[in-house]
Amino acid sequence: MNILAFESTCDETAAAVVRDGREVLSDAIASQVDMHTLYGGVVPEIASRKHVEAIVGLADRALADAGLAKRDIDAVAVSYAPGLIGAVLVGVNFAKAVALSWGVPLVPVHHIRGHIAANYITHPDLEPPFVCLCVSGGNTLIADVRTYTDMEVMGATRDDAAGESFDKVARVLGIGYPGGGPMDRLAQGGDDRKYDLPRSHVDGHPLDMSFSGLKTAVLNLAHNARQKGEELDYPGLAASFAAAVSDTLVPRIMEAARQKGYGKVVIAGGVAANSRIRADLQRACEHSGDKLFLPALKLCGDNGAMVGSQGYYEFLAGHTADSALNAYATRDLGMG
Ligand code: KG4
Repeated sequence: MNILAFESTCDETAAAVVRDGREVLSDAIASQVDMHTLYGGVVPEIASRKHVEAIVGLADRALADAGLAKRDIDAVAVSYAPGLIGAVLVGVNFAKAVALSWGVPLVPVHHIRGHIAANYITHPDLEPPFVCLCVSGGNTLIADVRTYTDMEVMGATRDDAAGESFDKVARVLGIGYPGGGPMDRLAQGGDDRKYDLPRSHVDGHPLDMSFSGLKTAVLNLAHNARQKGEELDYPGLAASFAAAVSDTLVPRIMEAARQKGYGKVVIAGGVAANSRIRADLQRACEHSGDKLFLPALKLCGDNGAMVGSQGYYEFLAGHTADSALNAYATRDLGMG
């Protein structure tokens, strides 16, 4: 079954063709990062307009790269939540129009479920059940993935997402946007014990997380150093920050793994590219005996292939929509 999939929830427009949920025939992406860099973050209005400009050409490219014609497409999938609402609406409306005019089913895909599915593409042998740490620019949560389409949130951030905190700290340090990748590279040469940064916890909710205190601690540290004219150790700060984020995430996903006992730990989303988190998870899983699944680096960020992969399993579960499908800025992972 060939699915043409669309992604437009934030600052990447993407279209892909995926066969039977696992085989990527094409994956066309247009990033808007250069445009948003000018403003130090995503400007929602600009994001929506850029999606409108890009999506038709990307659909054509996804078909051409796959060597397929529209008659070869069996269904259309689209990320319909969560995300910047104006941005999500572009993908949803376009996917609706394509599905309607080609006479094929329309499959709504929860964006975070898509991130999880990036692992089905990377690891052909991976099947639920497993626990998954989903860490992106807008979301940070731990999911109990019972089947391909039955999942529940076990814990989540109470404030900032992990990626958002990387981006905000990078902005204050003048490292640019999005900050996660550059912070990761900067941290390579740094001493992760250079700065003593807080690790927060949420009383009575051991799997929940908080990153705003950590972010504020770094911002205060940077401002104070500047005011006193002190030199900041940038690589040390980046390494100390990555260590604090990892120390928040890794014990929680390992506790979730212990509670469920599936023996499989998965990570997903843009922050899954982080080398410190990947290394710490590797070590933790070696210690616990859980099998670790890391997504390919190119599939960590937003892409269309992950939507096509999850769309296949949603379709098999009978989760299709009609032309009344709406877009949502927020939506529980469990609701699909
Ligand atoms: O999944 P994604 O592309 O978009 C959302 O769905 O939100 O994630 C983007 C986020 C950004 O916050 C970016 O700074 C972060 O992922 N990111 C990283 C790394 N690469 C990207 N964070 C930490 N380390 C990285 N290597």
